[in-house]
Amino acid sequence: MALIEWSDKDFSVGVPDIDEQHREWIGIINRLHDALLSPEAGDYKYTLFKELLAYTDLHFSDEERLMEDIDYPHLQKHKEMHYFFKTQILEQVQMLFKGEPIMMSQVMSQLKHWLTEHIMKEDMKFGKYISHR
Ligand SMILES: [Fe+2]
Repeated sequence: MALIEWSDKDFSVGVPDIDEQHREWIGIINRLHDALLSPEAGDYKYTLFKELLAYTDLHFSDEERLMEDIDYPHLQKHKEMHYFFKTQILEQVQMLFKGEPIMMSQVMSQLKHWLTEHIMKEDMKFGKYISHR
């Protein structure tokens, strides 16, 4: 079962490009979740963690660029939240690559919590701002 099940009702912010990226982002988290549960996945989880990091970077910069273009008033605060999240993933990835013990189930539930809360509250706020301009 997927860790996060996409539904338009819960996650669509009403901006097609952003929705598409969020869907892809959730897809990577779900693949990572599956890989962690599968004993045959081996090093594939490292690849997925790197992919998650790269995609998070791409997605955050696209989202922030869009916010700049429309002079979104909460841009600064939003950028800080992105930065905080990116730093957290980076920390986990670095620990993983150094071979330090990390609690995968805890990491995954934090990822799920942060990402779903962020989309449903913060990105949704931005989606409403765009549609009411
Ligand atoms: Fe965001």
